[in-house]
Amino acid sequence: MDQYTSATIAAEFVLSKTKLRPKVAIVLGSGLGAFGDSPSITDATRISFGDIPNFPKSTAEGHAGKLVIGNVGGVPIAAMQGRVHFYEGYTMEQVVFPLRVLARMGVRAVILTNAAGGISPKLESGCLVVLTDHINMLGHNPMSGPNDPRFGLRFFDMTAAYDPAYRALAMKEGKRIGVKIHEGVYLAVSGPSYETPAEIRAFQVMGADVVGMSTVPETIAARHMGVKVLAISCVTNLAAGLGAPLDHKEVLEVGERVRGHFVALLESLIPQLAADVGAPVKG
Ligand code: HPA
Repeated sequence: MDQYTSATIAAEFVLSKTKLRPKVAIVLGSGLGAFGDSPSITDATRISFGDIPNFPKSTAEGHAGKLVIGNVGGVPIAAMQGRVHFYEGYTMEQVVFPLRVLARMGVRAVILTNAAGGISPKLESGCLVVLTDHINMLGHNPMSGPNDPRFGLRFFDMTAAYDPAYRALAMKEGKRIGVKIHEGVYLAVSGPSYETPAEIRAFQVMGADVVGMSTVPETIAARHMGVKVLAISCVTNLAAGLGAPLDHKEVLEVGERVRGHFVALLESLIPQLAADVGAPVKG
Protein backbone atom coordinates (compact mmCIF):
# COMPACT_ATOMS: atom_id res chain seq x y z
CA MET A 1 0.00 0.00 0.00
CA ASP A 2 1.38 3.48 -0.79
CA GLN A 3 1.88 6.00 2.00
CA TYR A 4 -0.89 8.30 0.77
CA THR A 5 -3.42 5.48 1.06
CA SER A 6 -2.15 4.26 4.45
CA ALA A 7 -2.13 7.86 5.80
CA THR A 8 -5.67 8.36 4.51
CA ILE A 9 -6.86 5.17 6.23
CA ALA A 10 -5.22 6.26 9.50
CA ALA A 11 -6.73 9.77 9.20
CA GLU A 12 -10.21 8.35 8.58
CA PHE A 13 -9.83 6.08 11.63
CA VAL A 14 -8.90 9.04 13.87
CA LEU A 15 -11.70 11.25 12.53
CA SER A 16 -14.22 8.43 13.12
CA LYS A 17 -13.43 8.67 16.88
CA THR A 18 -14.28 12.38 17.25
CA LYS A 19 -16.58 15.05 15.90
CA LEU A 20 -13.78 17.64 16.10
CA ARG A 21 -11.94 18.64 12.93
CA PRO A 22 -8.58 20.15 14.00
CA LYS A 23 -6.68 22.45 11.66
CA VAL A 24 -3.81 22.90 14.12
CA ALA A 25 -1.62 20.14 15.57
CA ILE A 26 1.07 20.06 18.21
CA VAL A 27 3.83 17.48 18.48
CA LEU A 28 5.01 17.26 22.09
CA GLY A 29 8.65 16.31 22.55
CA SER A 30 10.57 14.58 25.35
CA GLY A 31 9.38 15.73 28.77
CA LEU A 32 6.84 18.12 27.18
CA GLY A 33 3.92 15.69 26.80
CA ALA A 34 2.19 17.13 29.88
CA PHE A 35 0.29 19.59 27.69
CA GLY A 36 -1.68 16.61 26.34
CA ASP A 37 -2.95 15.83 29.85
CA SER A 38 -3.48 19.43 30.98
CA PRO A 39 -6.98 20.69 31.85
CA SER A 40 -6.54 23.27 29.07
CA ILE A 41 -7.63 20.49 26.68
CA THR A 42 -11.38 19.85 26.98
CA ASP A 43 -13.66 17.30 25.26
CA ALA A 44 -10.57 15.12 24.75
CA THR A 45 -10.46 11.86 22.84
CA ARG A 46 -7.21 9.98 23.48
CA ILE A 47 -6.03 7.36 21.02
CA SER A 48 -2.92 5.22 21.54
CA PHE A 49 -0.55 5.30 18.58
CA GLY A 50 -0.77 1.50 18.62
CA ASP A 51 -4.51 1.60 17.86
CA ILE A 52 -4.17 3.80 14.77
CA PRO A 53 -3.81 1.72 11.60
CA ASN A 54 -0.27 1.82 10.16
CA PHE A 55 0.96 4.20 12.90
CA PRO A 56 4.50 3.65 14.29
CA LYS A 57 4.73 3.17 18.07
CA SER A 58 6.93 5.43 20.19
CA THR A 59 9.57 3.57 22.22
CA ALA A 60 11.43 6.55 23.73
CA GLU A 61 11.13 7.09 27.48
CA GLY A 62 9.22 10.30 28.18
CA HIS A 63 6.86 9.79 25.24
CA ALA A 64 3.33 8.63 26.10
CA GLY A 65 2.54 7.60 22.54
CA LYS A 66 -0.97 9.03 22.38
CA LEU A 67 -2.84 11.24 19.95
CA VAL A 68 -5.14 13.63 21.82
CA ILE A 69 -7.94 15.37 19.96
CA GLY A 70 -9.68 18.08 21.94
CA ASN A 71 -10.50 21.76 22.29
CA VAL A 72 -8.10 24.37 23.61
CA GLY A 73 -10.00 27.56 24.39
CA GLY A 74 -12.72 26.38 22.00
CA VAL A 75 -10.25 25.64 19.18
CA PRO A 76 -10.07 22.03 17.99
CA ILE A 77 -6.51 20.68 18.07
CA ALA A 78 -4.67 17.40 17.64
CA ALA A 79 -1.75 16.85 20.03
CA MET A 80 0.74 14.05 19.65
CA GLN A 81 2.18 13.04 23.02
CA GLY A 82 5.47 11.78 21.74
CA ARG A 83 6.82 11.00 18.31
CA VAL A 84 9.02 8.38 16.73
CA HIS A 85 12.66 9.01 15.96
CA PHE A 86 15.12 7.75 13.39
CA TYR A 87 17.34 6.37 16.20
CA GLU A 88 14.56 3.98 17.23
CA GLY A 89 15.19 2.12 13.99
CA TYR A 90 12.23 3.51 12.07
CA THR A 91 12.65 4.46 8.46
CA MET A 92 12.38 8.14 7.56
CA GLU A 93 9.06 7.30 5.92
CA GLN A 94 7.76 5.99 9.27
CA VAL A 95 9.16 8.99 11.14
CA VAL A 96 7.12 11.42 9.02
CA PHE A 97 4.03 9.21 8.72
CA PRO A 98 2.19 10.89 11.65
CA LEU A 99 2.63 14.29 9.96
CA ARG A 100 1.09 12.90 6.81
CA VAL A 101 -1.83 11.51 8.79
CA LEU A 102 -2.37 14.89 10.45
CA ALA A 103 -2.34 16.61 7.06
CA ARG A 104 -4.79 14.04 5.65
CA MET A 105 -7.03 14.85 8.66
CA GLY A 106 -7.10 18.47 7.51
CA VAL A 107 -4.37 19.95 9.71
CA ARG A 108 -2.80 23.05 8.06
CA ALA A 109 -0.45 24.27 10.79
CA VAL A 110 1.76 22.39 13.22
CA ILE A 111 3.70 23.36 16.32
CA LEU A 112 6.68 21.01 16.63
CA THR A 113 8.31 20.93 20.05
CA ASN A 114 11.44 19.18 21.21
CA ALA A 115 14.03 18.88 23.92
CA ALA A 116 17.42 20.12 22.76
CA GLY A 117 20.95 20.77 23.90
CA GLY A 118 22.03 24.42 24.04
CA ILE A 119 25.05 25.32 21.91
CA SER A 120 24.78 29.13 21.85
CA PRO A 121 26.39 30.77 24.90
CA LYS A 122 23.18 32.81 25.28
CA LEU A 123 21.26 29.66 26.24
CA GLU A 124 20.93 27.83 29.53
CA SER A 125 18.84 24.92 30.65
CA GLY A 126 15.13 25.81 30.77
CA CYS A 127 15.27 28.34 27.88
CA LEU A 128 12.61 28.19 25.17
CA VAL A 129 13.91 28.75 21.63
CA VAL A 130 11.75 29.47 18.58
CA LEU A 131 13.48 27.95 15.58
CA THR A 132 14.38 30.28 12.74
CA ASP A 133 15.95 27.59 10.53
CA HIS A 134 17.61 24.19 10.66
CA ILE A 135 20.69 22.25 9.59
CA ASN A 136 20.04 18.63 8.64
CA MET A 137 22.92 16.42 9.85
CA LEU A 138 20.79 13.27 9.96
CA GLY A 139 22.44 12.05 6.79
CA HIS A 140 18.99 11.37 5.32
CA ASN A 141 16.11 13.33 3.86
CA PRO A 142 12.62 11.94 4.47
CA MET A 143 11.53 12.92 0.96
CA SER A 144 14.15 10.84 -0.83
CA GLY A 145 12.72 8.09 -3.02
CA PRO A 146 9.83 8.33 -5.46
CA ASN A 147 7.75 11.51 -5.02
CA ASP A 148 4.00 11.20 -4.54
CA PRO A 149 2.56 14.38 -6.08
CA ARG A 150 -0.60 14.01 -3.99
CA PHE A 151 1.54 15.12 -1.03
CA GLY A 152 3.65 17.75 -2.78
CA LEU A 153 6.25 18.69 -5.35
CA ARG A 154 9.46 16.76 -6.04
CA PHE A 155 11.59 19.85 -5.37
CA PHE A 156 10.24 22.31 -2.85
CA ASP A 157 11.41 25.49 -1.21
CA MET A 158 12.76 25.51 2.35
CA THR A 159 13.69 29.23 2.47
CA ALA A 160 11.09 30.10 5.10
CA ALA A 161 10.44 26.61 6.46
CA TYR A 162 9.69 28.02 9.91
CA ASP A 163 6.86 30.44 9.19
CA PRO A 164 8.12 34.01 9.77
CA ALA A 165 4.69 35.29 10.83
CA TYR A 166 4.28 32.43 13.33
CA ARG A 167 7.75 33.10 14.71
CA ALA A 168 6.90 36.78 15.20
CA LEU A 169 3.66 35.75 16.90
CA ALA A 170 5.49 33.43 19.29
CA MET A 171 7.95 36.18 20.23
CA LYS A 172 5.08 38.62 20.79
CA GLU A 173 3.00 36.20 22.86
CA GLY A 174 6.05 35.25 24.93
CA LYS A 175 6.55 38.91 25.78
CA ARG A 176 2.84 39.39 26.54
CA ILE A 177 2.69 36.49 29.00
CA GLY A 178 6.14 37.19 30.48
CA VAL A 179 7.97 34.14 29.12
CA LYS A 180 11.37 34.94 27.64
CA ILE A 181 11.76 33.37 24.22
CA HIS A 182 15.00 33.07 22.27
CA GLU A 183 15.43 32.50 18.56
CA GLY A 184 17.90 30.09 17.03
CA VAL A 185 18.98 27.53 14.45
CA TYR A 186 18.35 23.83 15.22
CA LEU A 187 20.80 21.20 14.10
CA ALA A 188 19.48 17.63 13.86
CA VAL A 189 21.66 14.60 14.51
CA SER A 190 20.48 11.01 14.31
CA GLY A 191 21.56 10.00 17.83
CA PRO A 192 20.98 8.02 19.98
CA SER A 193 24.42 8.80 21.42
CA TYR A 194 24.71 12.40 22.47
CA GLU A 195 27.33 14.41 20.60
CA THR A 196 31.02 14.60 21.39
CA PRO A 197 32.49 17.95 22.49
CA ALA A 198 34.39 18.11 19.15
CA GLU A 199 31.12 17.69 17.23
CA ILE A 200 29.54 20.48 19.25
CA ARG A 201 32.51 22.79 18.48
CA ALA A 202 32.05 21.96 14.79
CA PHE A 203 28.28 22.64 14.98
CA GLN A 204 29.02 25.98 16.67
CA VAL A 205 31.15 27.01 13.68
CA MET A 206 28.36 25.86 11.35
CA GLY A 207 25.92 28.28 12.96
CA ALA A 208 23.83 25.99 15.15
CA ASP A 209 22.29 27.30 18.39
CA VAL A 210 20.58 24.10 19.57
CA VAL A 211 21.03 20.40 18.80
CA GLY A 212 18.52 17.57 18.92
CA MET A 213 17.39 14.29 17.41
CA SER A 214 13.99 15.14 15.92
CA THR A 215 11.86 17.86 14.28
CA VAL A 216 13.81 18.27 11.02
CA PRO A 217 12.19 15.29 9.21
CA GLU A 218 8.75 16.48 10.35
CA THR A 219 9.41 20.05 9.20
CA ILE A 220 10.53 18.78 5.79
CA ALA A 221 7.44 16.56 5.44
CA ALA A 222 5.14 19.37 6.59
CA ARG A 223 6.60 21.85 4.11
CA HIS A 224 6.33 19.24 1.34
CA MET A 225 2.57 19.19 2.03
CA GLY A 226 2.26 22.98 2.45
CA VAL A 227 1.58 22.67 6.18
CA LYS A 228 2.86 25.71 8.10
CA VAL A 229 5.42 25.09 10.85
CA LEU A 230 6.26 26.72 14.15
CA ALA A 231 8.94 24.88 16.12
CA ILE A 232 9.97 25.42 19.73
CA SER A 233 12.94 23.83 21.47
CA CYS A 234 13.17 23.51 25.21
CA VAL A 235 16.85 23.63 26.17
CA THR A 236 17.17 20.78 28.65
CA ASN A 237 20.96 20.82 28.97
CA LEU A 238 24.06 22.54 27.73
CA ALA A 239 25.44 20.62 24.74
CA ALA A 240 28.33 18.19 25.23
CA GLY A 241 31.52 19.78 26.51
CA LEU A 242 29.78 23.02 27.55
CA GLY A 243 28.45 21.78 30.90
CA ALA A 244 28.05 18.58 32.89
CA PRO A 245 27.97 15.13 31.22
CA LEU A 246 24.59 14.46 29.57
CA ASP A 247 21.80 12.40 31.06
CA HIS A 248 18.32 11.66 29.66
CA LYS A 249 16.86 12.00 33.20
CA GLU A 250 17.92 15.64 33.23
CA VAL A 251 16.24 16.14 29.84
CA LEU A 252 12.92 14.88 31.25
CA GLU A 253 13.25 16.84 34.52
CA VAL A 254 13.85 20.16 32.78
CA GLY A 255 10.83 19.51 30.55
CA GLU A 256 8.79 19.16 33.76
CA ARG A 257 10.25 22.39 35.13
CA VAL A 258 9.30 24.56 32.13
CA ARG A 259 5.86 22.97 31.88
CA GLY A 260 3.96 26.05 33.17
CA HIS A 261 5.57 28.46 30.72
CA PHE A 262 5.30 26.02 27.92
CA VAL A 263 1.59 25.31 28.41
CA ALA A 264 0.84 29.05 28.76
CA LEU A 265 2.66 29.79 25.51
CA LEU A 266 0.84 27.04 23.61
CA GLU A 267 -2.53 28.17 24.97
CA SER A 268 -1.99 31.72 23.81
CA LEU A 269 -0.63 30.71 20.38
CA ILE A 270 -3.20 28.10 19.36
CA PRO A 271 -6.20 30.42 18.73
CA GLN A 272 -4.03 32.73 16.63
CA LEU A 273 -2.63 29.93 14.50
CA ALA A 274 -6.15 28.53 14.09
CA ALA A 275 -7.40 31.93 12.91
CA ASP A 276 -4.53 32.06 10.40
CA VAL A 277 -5.50 28.75 8.80
CA GLY A 278 -9.18 29.65 8.73
CA ALA A 279 -10.41 27.42 11.55
CA PRO A 280 -13.31 28.59 13.69
CA VAL A 281 -11.69 30.23 16.70
CA LYS A 282 -14.59 29.60 19.05
CA GLY A 283 -17.20 26.85 19.23
N1 HPA B 1 21.85 16.56 22.08
C1 HPA B 1 20.97 15.93 21.29
N2 HPA B 1 19.69 15.79 21.59
C2 HPA B 1 19.25 16.30 22.77
C3 HPA B 1 20.12 16.96 23.65
C4 HPA B 1 21.49 17.09 23.29
O1 HPA B 1 22.31 17.67 24.01
N3 HPA B 1 19.36 17.34 24.71
C5 HPA B 1 18.10 16.92 24.48
N4 HPA B 1 18.02 16.30 23.29
